[in-house]
Amino acid sequence: MVRFFTFVSLVGMFGYGCALPSFAVANKRQIYQHEGTASHYVPNGVGACGVEIPPGDFAIALSPADLSDYGCFNNVTIVNTNAGITQYALVLDECASCTEGNIEVTDALYLALGGSLDLAWVDVTWYG
Ligand SMILES: *[C@@H]1O[C@H](CO)[C@@H](O)[C@H](O)[C@H]1NC(C)=O
Repeated sequence: MVRFFTFVSLVGMFGYGCALPSFAVANKRQIYQHEGTASHYVPNGVGACGVEIPPGDFAIALSPADLSDYGCFNNVTIVNTNAGITQYALVLDECASCTEGNIEVTDALYLALGGSLDLAWVDVTWYG
């Protein structure tokens, strides 16, 4: 009986140890922040996620690789790293010309992040 309980508690400890990596994987998006640039763009009707994006709404477009990692409709946190301004927006589109880590944001979101439309992009950190 004593051996049986020892075995069970070892399995319990081992099982707990094994649970930690999968917990970390589940929170991958909070752990890995992307550093990149956010360019501003004017969405053209229905985005890659299949919903209309009103140009005045907050929305972001991800590179093809990031879109396949994140999927549509994720609520992403975007920080203008130079201005220290944080905003939230949903992933609603793909930016085919963006390289991984770089994003496009609607003009409204770009302005809310403290960007100037005269400049092509702001430096951002984003995660979601
Ligand atoms: C995204 O998350 C932020 C912070 O939790 C929240 O304030 C905001 O309402 C969310 N936006 C959407 C569209 O769910």
